[in-house]
Amino acid sequence: MLIIETERLILRPFREGDAADLFAYLRAPTAPCFLSLKLADLAEAEIEVGKRALDEGRVAICLKGTGQVIGDLFGGAGEDEEDETASVGWNLNPRFGGQGYAFEAARALLDHLFRAKGFRRLYAYVEDHNKPSRRLCEKLGMRLEGVFVEFVSFTKDAAGNPIYENTMQYAILRREWETLGGCPRDQVRS
Ligand SMILES: CC(C)(COP(=O)(O)OP(=O)(O)OC[C@H]1O[C@@H](n2cnc3c(N)ncnc32)[C@H](O)[C@@H]1OP(=O)(O)O)[C@@H](O)C(=O)NCCC(=O)NCCS
Repeated sequence: MLIIETERLILRPFREGDAADLFAYLRAPTAPCFLSLKLADLAEAEIEVGKRALDEGRVAICLKGTGQVIGDLFGGAGEDEEDETASVGWNLNPRFGGQGYAFEAARALLDHLFRAKGFRRLYAYVEDHNKPSRRLCEKLGMRLEGVFVEFVSFTKDAAGNPIYENTMQYAILRREWETLGGCPRDQVRS
């Protein structure tokens, strides 16, 4: 993936040295879908960074000023791609939430996937109780396509039974992105 610069952020591949920043938010993930990625210690974070560095679909979100990795995005690489379609996702260190960073980063990623990588359709899975992520999808212009009831389980109850989540699917087509105006070109350089 190219390096993408937005007003306040740099989006770039993961690289050696990112483990401490990744561990800072994956030591205690706030969304159920990331519980399986909970990292026990810095050594695990280093292994995870090593894997991500080889995966062009994993993107580190860095603050322009300090270079700190404050979250990550995925999309545009992997086995889910067919019919020019890809899934996208995001995970922000909660210390940096509520400042528009996730929107700024995700908007740039969608723009890159549509315009530079040529994807036709992008979609995201979001659990129904995850209001910040649903709102982000909506701000990006993604349409709610449906709800998969008791679709997936990330956790178990005290008795060991799976707790199933209702998963919403949001999507947007390239032609919709273009009609909406996508990402203003003066805010993204890649
Ligand atoms: C989902 C997630 C990425 C959303 O992050 P976020 O910081 O709430 O999202 P945004 O970047 O859109 O910022 C939200 C708020 O910042 C505010 N904000 C403050 N300064 C801003 C600025 N300069 N520019 C834009 N917005 C700004 C906005 O008002 C916005 O609130 P609004 O949507 O009510 O208008 C984050 O909650 C997260 O990582 N959650 C855990 C992981 C997760 O759930 N991932 C998705 C799994 S499906």
